[in-house]
Amino acid sequence: MNGKVKGISGATVQVTLPDLQIGDRVFVGEQRLTGEVVRLDGPVATVQVFEENRGLGVHEPVVSAGGPLTVQLGPGLLGGIFDGLQRPLPGLRSTGGDFIAAGSTRLALDMERSFELKPTVRPGSDVKAWQQVGTVTEGHIDHPLFAAVPGVLSEISHGPWTLDRELGRMQDGQWLQGWHSWPVRAARPYRRKLSLSRPLVTGQRCIDLLFPLLKGGVAIIPGGFGTGKTVLEQTIAKFADVDVVVYVGCGERGNEMAGLLDEFSQLQDPRTDRPLSERTIIVANTSNMPVAARESSIFTAVTMAEYYRDLGLDVLFLADSLSRWAEALREISSALEEMPGEDGYPTYLNSRLAGFIERAGVVETMSGAEGSLSMILSVSPPGGDFSEPVTQACLRVSGALLMLDTSLAHRRHYPAINWTQSYSLYSSEAIRHFALEHARWPELRKQCRSLLQREESLREVAEVVGMEGLQESDRLVMRTAEKIRLDFLCQNSFSDDAFADPETTLTRIERLIDEHVELTARLDEGVPLSEILKEAADATG
Ligand SMILES: Nc1ncnc2c1ncn2[C@@H]1O[C@H](COP(=O)(O)OP(=O)(O)O)[C@@H](O)[C@H]1O
Ligand SMILES: [Mg+2]
Repeated sequence: MNGKVKGISGATVQVTLPDLQIGDRVFVGEQRLTGEVVRLDGPVATVQVFEENRGLGVHEPVVSAGGPLTVQLGPGLLGGIFDGLQRPLPGLRSTGGDFIAAGSTRLALDMERSFELKPTVRPGSDVKAWQQVGTVTEGHIDHPLFAAVPGVLSEISHGPWTLDRELGRMQDGQWLQGWHSWPVRAARPYRRKLSLSRPLVTGQRCIDLLFPLLKGGVAIIPGGFGTGKTVLEQTIAKFADVDVVVYVGCGERGNEMAGLLDEFSQLQDPRTDRPLSERTIIVANTSNMPVAARESSIFTAVTMAEYYRDLGLDVLFLADSLSRWAEALREISSALEEMPGEDGYPTYLNSRLAGFIERAGVVETMSGAEGSLSMILSVSPPGGDFSEPVTQACLRVSGALLMLDTSLAHRRHYPAINWTQSYSLYSSEAIRHFALEHARWPELRKQCRSLLQREESLREVAEVVGMEGLQESDRLVMRTAEKIRLDFLCQNSFSDDAFADPETTLTRIERLIDEHVELTARLDEGVPLSEILKEAADATG
């Protein structure tokens, strides 16, 4: 069905095209720009266009895609770099310059890439929907391929195989395909949600010991400009103990994305010794790209993340920053002249964010495996004001808050995670797990927290009476707490120290706490603090 552009205001376009539904994808103008129907008024539909629409004119043609915005899912997405409409960026870079030509329709999946297909069922078998029928190797993972429909399998491919060939055939003549399309706004199905229990090791000592996360959990990282959100997100992307990382750069600077790409192609996964790029999918939607595309990048990325979860894998979804997406929602809402809510954000901000964040979790997949989708999302509150609507909306639906502190960042204490105001509701379950391997984990964590808390209150006292006015035991507490801050909580992302596994995290805190206990015992024996500190300094050389 064909229609025409009737009016254009920014990224929203009025079109006349019969039989549309809300959420339908349409191709707008001669350039076939991708848009989505967001409002229907009789014969006129309002379309939010995800691509740069400068140069678009009224009376240009509009065509319906006959359904919603979808992504392609199948083997071969890992290592991919896509724009918000899942068009591969490097491929386009080589053919069409650095920017994607508007309306370009490169496919996400490489239909001609050859995989070695190993069938897991024999012809003649009765297969159920979602039953695994074969496996291909994709980088470091065994990628199962499932039957989309139930029936008796009459043929199954094997050996070198490409996505454009059939995977198998049913007795009734139906084909099985190795890939499919999925609407990005619809959460992918699973059998049931499971409770979260396994820790998500980030490799950041501060997080893993004080604010530990769980696989399937959601953490938010709010922080003002320059507090280290991007560096922290990217460091976690490198080192988290997951099978697949989906990273969305949403409305942030393009040079940061370029740096990330370079690094990922050179670095290796510390666990598998394979290139990091192999386990990562990047969705780049930088600040020079159209604002409306932030919406599609978030949903495109989370749908790809769910796809890998459904293979029974642990997937980590990182977005930097969610605030830029919320700003896009505000812009679109205002173009639609909707009633604004707090700070001009649409009244559906909370439900939209919650609907997206709900896609995280641990699930029993449709094929009966266990898969997890964890989220770590940065938020950039304007002026560092955490009471603003986006931070608050995210807080309501996340289980951990890693609050970045401007004053810590100014002192170059990185990661600038404020240890008094951050929290993790996943702590007790995560600690229980860490304790299975490291019996002292809970006790050392408790001591570490208590020393940091005592430092906080002693600091106030010291401001009044001066350090010299403190008792020797309190001065020892101040000394140890300072060591914990500098030698344990600080972790430079640009050094060999960027990643710490749980063993080294534990040994490091153990050394500091055990020394503190030893020195306190010497104090109790009546040895003066100055002498004890001199001995300690001599001992460590
Ligand atoms: N973990 C870290 N280790 C070392 N330097 C850091 C770390 N985090 C932040 N920085 C420094 O702070 C700067 C700003 O960090 P960035 O992540 O870009 O901030 P934001 O994204 O919050 O604006 C970085 O360029 C880097 O110099
Ligand atoms: Mg940043």
